[in-house]
Amino acid sequence: MKYKRILLKLSGESLMGDKAFGIDNNRLATYASQIKAIYESGVEVAIVIGGGNIFRGVQAEEGGMDRTHGDYMGMLATMINSMALQAALESVGVQTRLQSAIEMKEISEPFIRRKAVRHLERGRVVIFGAGTGNPFFTTDSAASLRAIEINAEVILKGTRVDGIYSADPEKDPNATKYDTISFDDAYGKGLKVMDMTAFTLCKENNLPIIVFDMDTPGNLQKVLEGEQVGTIVRN
Ligand code: GTP
Repeated sequence: MKYKRILLKLSGESLMGDKAFGIDNNRLATYASQIKAIYESGVEVAIVIGGGNIFRGVQAEEGGMDRTHGDYMGMLATMINSMALQAALESVGVQTRLQSAIEMKEISEPFIRRKAVRHLERGRVVIFGAGTGNPFFTTDSAASLRAIEINAEVILKGTRVDGIYSADPEKDPNATKYDTISFDDAYGKGLKVMDMTAFTLCKENNLPIIVFDMDTPGNLQKVLEGEQVGTIVRN
């Protein structure tokens, strides 16, 4: 395996599968089996999952709700997805620990960096819920922050697209996919990899990001094996 310790960022929306809202059990099971495969090959896996299938703070603001209030609701949404993923992983025999950035000790450990690292060393998949615990940060930022804190070698950003393109491939037939791109070039070309807070954290801490299509089974394993899947962004 190319990497020993990774942080996998999953999107909440992807968990919907073909549904309009909430969690699609088939999609959840597909994710669990993909994660199980890499876990069994000894990779240390930490996971951050978004909450957009349930609630988005930004949309709440558009409806007149205070942004911070909406963001906290979004953090709770990530906990629902984290718990669903935890259950799905444990049902296929993957040991997990869930840590929350907002204390809810009846259902999750609090986030404690040193404990998270110990869990990883002992072969447990660690899921980080509730984002960073702060409004105005996305789950991409939470993923970047946690990845740096636990010394992950790379962030694997699982999306519905298979990498980063020079333009929107749905609108521009000449759009081409990058295999590799530097942080500076991605910024210079205005390509959207993650929000700027997350992007800058990764760049400044020399943490590469691989954007890949998580909805194609087997892709996660291929990324770990060092196959050219998706786009790698690095310094
Ligand atoms: P080691 O210390 O490495 O043995 O880790 P461990 O996680 O097995 O030990 P610990 O005794 O800390 O945890 C046992 C179980 O309780 C695990 O499933 C933890 O996730 C869970 N747990 C630990 N702390 C908390 C907490 O504050 N709240 C909740 N809900 N569960 C917790």
